Amino acid sequence: MTDPPVVGASDRIREFWDADASTYDATKSHSISDPLERAAWRQALSEALPLPPASVLDVGAGTGSLSLLAAELGYAVTGLDLSPGMLAEAERKANAMGLADRVTCVVGSASEPPPGPFDVVVERHVLWTIPDPVGALRSWLDVGRRLVLFEGTWGSRRLVHRAKDFAAQTLRKVMRTPPDHHAPYPEDVLAELPLARLPSPVPLVEAVHQAGWHGVRIRRLRDVEWAARLHEPWPFGWLEERPRYVIVADAES
Ligand SMILES: C[S@@+](CC[C@H](N)C(=O)[O-])C[C@H]1O[C@@H](n2cnc3c(N)ncnc32)[C@H](O)[C@@H]1O
Repeated sequence: MTDPPVVGASDRIREFWDADASTYDATKSHSISDPLERAAWRQALSEALPLPPASVLDVGAGTGSLSLLAAELGYAVTGLDLSPGMLAEAERKANAMGLADRVTCVVGSASEPPPGPFDVVVERHVLWTIPDPVGALRSWLDVGRRLVLFEGTWGSRRLVHRAKDFAAQTLRKVMRTPPDHHAPYPEDVLAELPLARLPSPVPLVEAVHQAGWHGVRIRRLRDVEWAARLHEPWPFGWLEERPRYVIVADAES
């Protein structure tokens, strides 16, 4: 009898996102469907990206929230993702919005990007789920001139954030309001991800430096935080908000 196939972390991560593909966009901050939050993201993209028309590689594009917003702004976008299910949603939405000619979807690993070259490599909320983030960042340096990372400190261990989390969880139980988010990864998968649940942006900034990107800079995305807080029912927006930021770097100094 042959041994059963070994299911590695990346297979389990792909299965997780394939299973989440039909529900991911139900969260307003995932789909960027709220008009105010959409406007805040449009501003964040316009400030961080070179002027359109430029070519954008959106790594871990998912259901295409950022890709489609960038395509609307006039960019030529390639969305790369491990999950065929998530990308099928992105393609469906691109067709429905009449943006299919500006968005190309590629199923594949973040560490093996299409050759490009791209004017800019972007990601939103993806580096935390990559087992070798420095390796992935290096591979993006081979194909991109600018790097733009949209991230947040989801794993803050500050007393104020832990107290707010506890209050939100308790209130959700009392009010029978389910959390507006999918289930977390299993602990053994999380253990293989060095940038999961970051308490601060410091390890991410260090990873970008380590990968060889130049001129690393960071800016807090207060407009995105504010818009996300406003679309949640009180007090959940206030209790569950976390610092969000954009890191930008260049391939050449
Ligand atoms: C939190 S979602 C973010 C999706 C999208 N960037 C957004 O802003 O809505 C993470 C995405 O990363 C993808 N992903 C996870 N690991 C990956 C890898 N190693 N290579 C490519 N995509 C990956 C998942 O399939 C999922 O679509």
